[in-house]
Amino acid sequence: MKTIIEPFRIKSVEPLLFTTKEQRKELLQKAFYNPFLLHADDVMIDLLTDSGTSAMSSAQWAGIMLGDESYAGSKSFYHFESTIQQLTGMPLVIPTHQGRASEKILFSIVGGKGKYIVSNTLFDTTRANIEYSGAEGVDFLCEEGKHPSIPAPFKGNMDVEAFEKFIQEKGAANIPLCMVTVTNNSGGGQPVSMANIKAVKAVCSKYSIPLFIDACRFAENCYFIKLREEGYSDKSVESIAHELFSYADGCTMSAKKDAFANIGGFLAMYNVELAKQCRNLLVITEGFPTYGGLAGRDLEAIAIGLNEVMDEHYLQYRIRSIEYLTEKLVAAGVPVMQPAGGHAVYLDAKAFLPHVPVDQYPGQALIGALYVEGGIRSVEIGSLMFGKYDADGKLIPAMMELVRLAIPRRVYTQSHIDYVAEVILEVFEKRNQIRGLEIVEEAPALRHFTAKLKPL
Ligand code: F0G
Repeated sequence: MKTIIEPFRIKSVEPLLFTTKEQRKELLQKAFYNPFLLHADDVMIDLLTDSGTSAMSSAQWAGIMLGDESYAGSKSFYHFESTIQQLTGMPLVIPTHQGRASEKILFSIVGGKGKYIVSNTLFDTTRANIEYSGAEGVDFLCEEGKHPSIPAPFKGNMDVEAFEKFIQEKGAANIPLCMVTVTNNSGGGQPVSMANIKAVKAVCSKYSIPLFIDACRFAENCYFIKLREEGYSDKSVESIAHELFSYADGCTMSAKKDAFANIGGFLAMYNVELAKQCRNLLVITEGFPTYGGLAGRDLEAIAIGLNEVMDEHYLQYRIRSIEYLTEKLVAAGVPVMQPAGGHAVYLDAKAFLPHVPVDQYPGQALIGALYVEGGIRSVEIGSLMFGKYDADGKLIPAMMELVRLAIPRRVYTQSHIDYVAEVILEVFEKRNQIRGLEIVEEAPALRHFTAKLKPL
């Protein structure tokens, strides 16, 4: 087989800004060892997130010019609406300015004190919006998903037995919604199988609990189903996506991921009463139901992106480029989440830095080292992001200490990825010199965004 090439050519480029190691040491210190506080200009390869960082296609940029900016009933809204109706089968489509705005609206209505929202793994903004409503978010990730180094095809699956046991314990009346995240971002970008979605749906139906999909990375998940699940290799990603959505009662999506948009999101569903309540809140917090916090041009770009993402040459290149980086690291003995996820490579910081205890945030220490060594920005998905304190102020650590290198869509080429591998290997050689960190300032919710730290 020949090299899998980037299925695009480049018409417009942005320069990378180069810095020295000495400069980066100082810049990191000034950013309180939190790369979220760095100026993006001081980053060479930005793998902080794959969200809103995609390169739009020429068709999307053309759509930007065609965007209809009418306040009500914009042509671009109807393009957006019909694209999502066709993709999901869901008739009621509500635009929002991004994923978390959809979550805020949904959970303000279905959440509340005494309620439980269950999931394979909730993303941090999803969990935060659930908790903000007074409800509790509960994750039931399958056992394979909890072990970074053990390869399995669908490590994003939900533990259906544990889910059903929980319903029997807490009562279905207290569980207003089950949300399955595809792919499972916080669990390593790992896919959920169609069989698992079907099994989750069966339990949901038995207890009349609506099933929602967090569809941020639906196309990447569907491509994994095509590659790995029996009976799907001959099906198109589009038809797999139709099947996936057919089991759901609704979905939320951040269009900043698999719609290649720089901003945007939506809620879609069948339930007329729930949609009415969502739209009432939407008007107060986002905007009129035919734009929901977005410009007409954004609605247009999203509609175009949602179809582009199901192109199988694109998905083959996308999934392969993540796998390529993972393979290079595995060959050198670097502890990484296996198999490769859909949008990111996840380093296992606990195994990478066994000398740094979890209450000294090994993931955060590692992202600092990657920045200083090569100007690469990544994000901790571990105890800084998910840690809590017990009554005595002692850290209750996260399940895993991961460092995520998220690859923006259609942005970096193979030589950028080769460079990233070289930097990680250099840091791996010097890993014994990396010290842990302590927090000097933190916010009560989503603290990883703004926390200030210092080295121990
Ligand atoms: N759900 C998942 C699975 C996500 O990954 C994200 C965002 C959201 C919901 C919220 O969407 O950012 O548009 O409000 N993830 C980004 C990331 C931030 O870096 O993984 P949003």
